[in-house]
Amino acid sequence: MANIIAIANQKGGVTKTTSTFNISAALATQGKKVLMIDMDSQASLTISAGLEPLEVEHTVCDILEKTPVATKDCIITFDHIENLSLIASIIDLAVLETQMLSRPAREKILSRALSQVEEDYDYIMIDCPPQLSILTMNALSAADKVIIPVKTDYLAYRGLTQLNDTIVDIKEYVNSKIKVIGVIATLYEANIKEDKEILEKLDAEYNLIGVIKKAAVAKKGIYDGLPVVLQYSQADIAKEYMKIANMIISDKYEKAVF
Ligand SMILES: Nc1ncnc2c1ncn2[C@@H]1O[C@H](COP(=O)(O)OP(=O)(O)OP(=O)(O)O)[C@@H](O)[C@H]1O
Ligand SMILES: [Mg+2]
Repeated sequence: MANIIAIANQKGGVTKTTSTFNISAALATQGKKVLMIDMDSQASLTISAGLEPLEVEHTVCDILEKTPVATKDCIITFDHIENLSLIASIIDLAVLETQMLSRPAREKILSRALSQVEEDYDYIMIDCPPQLSILTMNALSAADKVIIPVKTDYLAYRGLTQLNDTIVDIKEYVNSKIKVIGVIATLYEANIKEDKEILEKLDAEYNLIGVIKKAAVAKKGIYDGLPVVLQYSQADIAKEYMKIANMIISDKYEKAVF
């Protein structure tokens, strides 16, 4: 049975998508079978993986529809990345999202769809959109675990309270098995005093499992559909993502060192 991990934060631009892609690819390099789910209508994960959303035959919309396509028929594999698969997204998800609101057990739509393929993977990694929307609720309802990337700035740090409240509600009413693995501090700039202060707060108040520095190399693979962990495996951020993947595999989470 796959471990389902949601990468969530309602804040925009905190590197949910980049972290999903890199951690997933890192797990895949360790021989784990990984399925990524793009739950954002912006389709950033789909594009990052080198795909053109409009050219994809079946997307996540097809598994979330009222009359769904079989989940396995919506899975895309890659010639250039072994062990990694994707269910892509497309802008239509924004419309479907509003229709999902009027369905019974609307939080469990994704969970039901994933149950069809759960046995085929070691990990299913869900890239959430930047809202606490029904799509994020679906991701959290399906997930065994949650990783929260958070930018090292004050407003992003403050936004964590709201996310935590939501996860507490999900745990109480919808998905009692959900567990927060921890927080990854992202876009960290060590030479900025405020970043350092927020990093220390995150470390004191949350289970901080990784620190990803702001680095130009993060954007480099984007045109080739390759994440940093595959293209620049010696880069600091690649090593940090690899470390996080290894913690996920061992299911032992150590405090980040910074
Ligand atoms: N370590 C990094 N250093 C510098 N830039 C980064 C790093 N990681 C990601 N980025 C860039 O930061 C931007 C936001 O990243 P990303 O799209 O992964 O965030 P997100 O949380 O998924 O955003 P959204 O909320 O819109 O879905 C992107 O342009 C990405 O290329
Ligand atoms: Mg994103």
